[in-house]
Amino acid sequence: VSLRAYNTFGIDAKARLFAPFRSAEELRALLQLPEVQQTPKLVLGGGSNLLFTQDFDGVVLKNEIRGLETLDEQADGTVLVRAGAGESWHGLVEYALGQGLSGIENLSLIPGTVGAAPLQNIGAYGVELKDAFEYLEAVEISSGTQRRFSREECGFGYRESVFKGPLRNQYIVTGVVLRLHRRPQANTSYGAIRTTLEEMGVTEEPTPQQVSQAVISIRRSKLPDPAQIGNAGSFFKNPEVSQAKFDALKAQFPELPGYPVPGGVKVPAGWLIEQCGWKGHRAGEGRYGVHDRQALVLVNHGGATGLEVRALAEEIIASVREKFGIELHPEVNII
Ligand code: EPU
Repeated sequence: VSLRAYNTFGIDAKARLFAPFRSAEELRALLQLPEVQQTPKLVLGGGSNLLFTQDFDGVVLKNEIRGLETLDEQADGTVLVRAGAGESWHGLVEYALGQGLSGIENLSLIPGTVGAAPLQNIGAYGVELKDAFEYLEAVEISSGTQRRFSREECGFGYRESVFKGPLRNQYIVTGVVLRLHRRPQANTSYGAIRTTLEEMGVTEEPTPQQVSQAVISIRRSKLPDPAQIGNAGSFFKNPEVSQAKFDALKAQFPELPGYPVPGGVKVPAGWLIEQCGWKGHRAGEGRYGVHDRQALVLVNHGGATGLEVRALAEEIIASVREKFGIELHPEVNII
């Protein structure tokens, strides 16, 4: 089975077996089949955060569990919303906005599915999934049993969770429940949101819809649309350095941006990569390269292999290490 249509990088890898599931029950039945039990498994949502560098000699389990519902309105004005893991993330954002609920509008237009969102604690424009997260439901691959994970149990960090760490490849997320707010909770901490809202003529407290529109317009101006240019969003995480290391670099590169975080300073990888001259770079007769408006995003203009993209990523890592002494780490899952 070709996986080309199932990964936003548009890499033409193949899987030996491909099995979609539409409910937790269907998934549990699949997990009981001997040919599924005895072979490596890869769970796919929207395929928007991975890079295939080879064919997958196993079974791809495609999460197609649907469903969007409002569970419970609490006296404190919070509302629990449940989404099937196979729903599109942006579809959930639109559902919430349609219900007049606030909390995830800053996460508008992030590609991928609801079920993939907790794995890397998706985040953008000052908000992370964990801020609105209540619990998730998952099926254990080895036993087929279902259980809930609270926010604490998910161990969320920057683009991290237990499902990327100690519990990697052990659970399949089937549903996610968020706690949203009836009253608008505008988060305009990210400067470009404020300037975009001003350009939109919004002078009062913005509505969730207005914040969503601002985010969508910022994303469209910087990030390539995977439907048009193959990519998986940020290819690298933003690295953290110690305050001492940051101060030393700042003396040498006065323009170096940085944001304080507990224990150090977070530096935008896009800036480092751009300074190394990569922004807009094209390789392989132009088939792939670095996005010309956001250097953190690697792009497949058509016909690149995963190995070519990974080799480019390694060259970028080496040049940033050489110039700044900072080690970049991939944010996408490399398979
Ligand atoms: N910058 C450059 N050159 C570039 C790109 C960025 O100088 O080519 C500088 C910008 O000028 C700015 C800083 O880097 O000062 C930060 O840029 P931006 O706000 O675009 O965000 P980012 O740090 O590059 C992160 C997330 C994005 C998220 C944005 C907005 C990571 C790995 N990426 O990018 O998430 O949308 O912030 O919050 O944390 C993703 O994870 O796939 C993703 C797109």
